[in-house]
Amino acid sequence: MKGKIFIVGIGPGAREHISLRALEALEEADIIIGYKTYTRLVAGFVDKKKIISSGMRQELARCREALQLLHDGKQVALISGGDPGIYGMAGIMLELIEREKADVEVEMIPGITSCIAAAAILGAPIMNDFAVVSLSDLLTDWELIKTRLECAARGDFVVCIYNPRSKTRTTQIEQAREILLGYRDKATPVGIVRNAMRDDQSRIITTLEKMLSHPIDMTTTIIIGNSKTLVAHDRMMTPRGYIL
Ligand SMILES: C[S@@+](CC[C@H](N)C(=O)[O-])C[C@H]1O[C@@H](n2cnc3c(N)ncnc32)[C@H](O)[C@@H]1O
Repeated sequence: MKGKIFIVGIGPGAREHISLRALEALEEADIIIGYKTYTRLVAGFVDKKKIISSGMRQELARCREALQLLHDGKQVALISGGDPGIYGMAGIMLELIEREKADVEVEMIPGITSCIAAAAILGAPIMNDFAVVSLSDLLTDWELIKTRLECAARGDFVVCIYNPRSKTRTTQIEQAREILLGYRDKATPVGIVRNAMRDDQSRIITTLEKMLSHPIDMTTTIIIGNSKTLVAHDRMMTPRGYIL
């Protein structure tokens, strides 16, 4: 029997933010594979016996393990937090399937990505054009990331930042802020959301000037407003230009 892989986005955390198709796939799969933070999130509502968890930076090993199970004819759900196609597991799994010329069925199931979850928590900050930039320079050259930030800042895009700061990568967010300040007022609204849609969710609305005085870590998504973004009633919003 030909194996099938579901590449599943489980959204930011809570079960109610997972799509019905994703829940069906987790049910249908013989095995669920994922990074331990995400397998922990689904462990509450799937059969724990079919879960295989692994640690950070083991993405390739996880995909190889999935491929082996697919060769044995299994149905495998490979899970990603948020959406699997946004800094998730989808690209690497498809590359491996291609490289190995594996004859497997693939179903891609989207999930709510972090900037969408964070935007909903903050108000409506990405009502107009926005750019998503990851500050992780593990796989992308830092000079290129800076160029992308510069272009987004110059184009007056709302900027959503993923992977803003880790224990070892601490200066990138400072440089990113400097680049944005080159084009935007220091009073530009900034939303900082940690652990969106999880038990320990927190949200702060601040400014480009003050954003670094708040906690920022790898569970944080930051949304930097454009030149039109406002704050009212503790909600961040970017008008599209309707005349009210
Ligand atoms: C490797 S990326 C994975 C993104 C994921 N595939 C998505 O679509 O949201 C990890 C980054 O996503 C963001 N992130 C993931 N889950 C989050 C959450 N629940 N709340 C806020 N940010 C989150 C953080 O910026 C984190 O550093």
